[in-house]
Amino acid sequence: MADLHHLAETGLTTTDISLLEGLCSTRAIRRYRDDPVPEPVLRDILFAATRGPSGSNRQPFRFVVLTDSDRAQAAKDLIAQGARKLWAFKRKNDQYDEGSGAAADSPKARMANVMQTYVDNFANVPVLVLPCLVRYREPTPMEGASLYPAVQNLLLAARALGYGGVITGFHGSVDEELKELLGIPQEVFIGCTVTLGKPQGGHGPVRRRPMHELVYGDRWGEAADWAIDPPGTRYTKAGPPPAKQSAP
Ligand SMILES: Cc1cc2nc3c(=O)[nH]c(=O)nc-3n(C[C@H](O)[C@H](O)[C@H](O)COP(=O)(O)O)c2cc1C
Repeated sequence: MADLHHLAETGLTTTDISLLEGLCSTRAIRRYRDDPVPEPVLRDILFAATRGPSGSNRQPFRFVVLTDSDRAQAAKDLIAQGARKLWAFKRKNDQYDEGSGAAADSPKARMANVMQTYVDNFANVPVLVLPCLVRYREPTPMEGASLYPAVQNLLLAARALGYGGVITGFHGSVDEELKELLGIPQEVFIGCTVTLGKPQGGHGPVRRRPMHELVYGDRWGEAADWAIDPPGTRYTKAGPPPAKQSAP
């Protein structure tokens, strides 16, 4: 059993994975079974989310959790519109259907399919969470650090309990209407949307660039000697666009 003693005391049930194993296999889950997420599970996931850190422990995070009420459905419908609009733009702009994407079984085409299915079914996701930040001062570049760790806690807890989710920015183009619909005050920042549900598939290892590209020692750009991935690590070709060359 995972060492989650303090959580067990609150009646949580967990899958039998360690914290490290869980965080190395918490991937974006965009395909869900139709099953609703039971309220005790939501409670446990949101409990973990609210354990997130924040500056001076002010806890400016708030979570609007939308399941199956009429208002929740209206919010899902609204964000679904934003999702379809954003994905249609990205699909074209990032040329998902060109180059290697023209071959139906290429990773690019498979990703495009997953995304298309996700946005087409967005209004039916079992749970939609809006992690929000109550601003208590002028926006600063670091303010998200008092919200997003809580969001990652939420995703990790979902993983631990056999559920999955993904962060999206799909609310962006409907932010105003959403605030109106849900009574979210103007000064509150909706940080992202998170959809949640029982995954249709399984959880796999997170894939990133090799560690030596991402972890530096004493000098920018120079890999730390010890920055070596564990054997069997899977990689992705995704990553930042190459640095722009300065004009000669
Ligand atoms: C800031 C941020 C914004 C994201 N926005 C979207 C989004 O709008 N739509 C979406 O489907 N996934 C979105 N994602 C999920 C990422 O695409 C995903 O985490 C990334 O491709 C890595 O995949 P993995 O989480 O499975 O390792 C976002 C993730 C982050 C952290």
